[in-house]
Amino acid sequence: MSTAAPLSAPDRLVFSRDELLASGAYEAPLVAGGVRCHGGFGADGRYRSPRTLHRGPAIAAWQARLAREGDALIGIPRALMPPQYPNLAQATLLLRHGVRDPIVRTLTIISIVEGFGAIIRDVRVPDLGALVVEPVDGTALAHLAAGLFEAHARDESGFKDEGGHKQMWEAARDLALEKPRIPGDVLMRMMGRSAGRGRRAERPFPMLDETLERMLALMAQVLVVEVFAEGTFAWGIELLSNPEVSAAPEAAGNMVRFVQADEKPHVEYLRTALSELRARTLRTVDGGTLPGREVVDGLLHRILREITRNRPREQREDIRESLIAAMQVAADPKALLEEFDALESRWTPPERTGFEPAVSA
Ligand SMILES: [Fe+2]
Ligand SMILES: [Fe+2]
Repeated sequence: MSTAAPLSAPDRLVFSRDELLASGAYEAPLVAGGVRCHGGFGADGRYRSPRTLHRGPAIAAWQARLAREGDALIGIPRALMPPQYPNLAQATLLLRHGVRDPIVRTLTIISIVEGFGAIIRDVRVPDLGALVVEPVDGTALAHLAAGLFEAHARDESGFKDEGGHKQMWEAARDLALEKPRIPGDVLMRMMGRSAGRGRRAERPFPMLDETLERMLALMAQVLVVEVFAEGTFAWGIELLSNPEVSAAPEAAGNMVRFVQADEKPHVEYLRTALSELRARTLRTVDGGTLPGREVVDGLLHRILREITRNRPREQREDIRESLIAAMQVAADPKALLEEFDALESRWTPPERTGFEPAVSA
């Protein structure tokens, strides 16, 4: 599960903000749909993710430290990942029948969600030195506000005149489906549905400093989203690389591969920081303490239980209506819908998240 440390992993554990945001030089830039994007190509022609010159080795060094200190590096089990809807076979079927709207819609939603990733730079980071019993120097935790959140935000939504994942997914969509017409209600529907679902903003750990609790809850949420996105990327790569349904199988597939590569450091720094905190002790507002493990596992358990139980149904509900409407362009919409439904993935969420509270385990 853990990422292997580079061959000459430096023992250095402290990095400046500028270092964590540095990309180094590229031989050639990445241009997506006419937009200069982040990242670029080395002399060997291989894609190199942005802002990883020091961020990559830094994360490896913090992970090596965790291992040295005998602390576990948490990971989200792949088995918890719900299937994409429509799945690969269904999406391919739709495109073969000229039904492009649902796929355009899905790809557009992905690009918008990527852009939303920029909110991570607005997360308030409390004084961890005061709220954590053990020292946090030389950890990923100590670098969240000092470059890690900012690098993540820039990767997702772009920075200044440089595009990020939002623009890269748009480019992949426009390459593969030849600049399709984008349904005008994509964003509206997304907003409407998240408002309608109105998740309760209750506090599972009211004994903690509220800023700390909020930050940890968001990190746990984003970690799960990032890990589950891997399923979406695999879907996107396969679909957009298929010459039968994609107008630019190589370029569009590669664009998603580049985004996928860029996500690695997001998953890695988040699981590292949460693991560091899990191995420590938190101060409560009433002067007591709470094991970090209880908090991190508790948050992950709640999020994973909620998302594995509800996401497949929600994803289906989100597009089902527009899907059926879009199928009317096919020669035989009824037969197509039947064939489509027969291809649906059967999936039951695993019984356990692996982060069950110790008391009830
Ligand atoms: Fe991303
Ligand atoms: Fe990400």
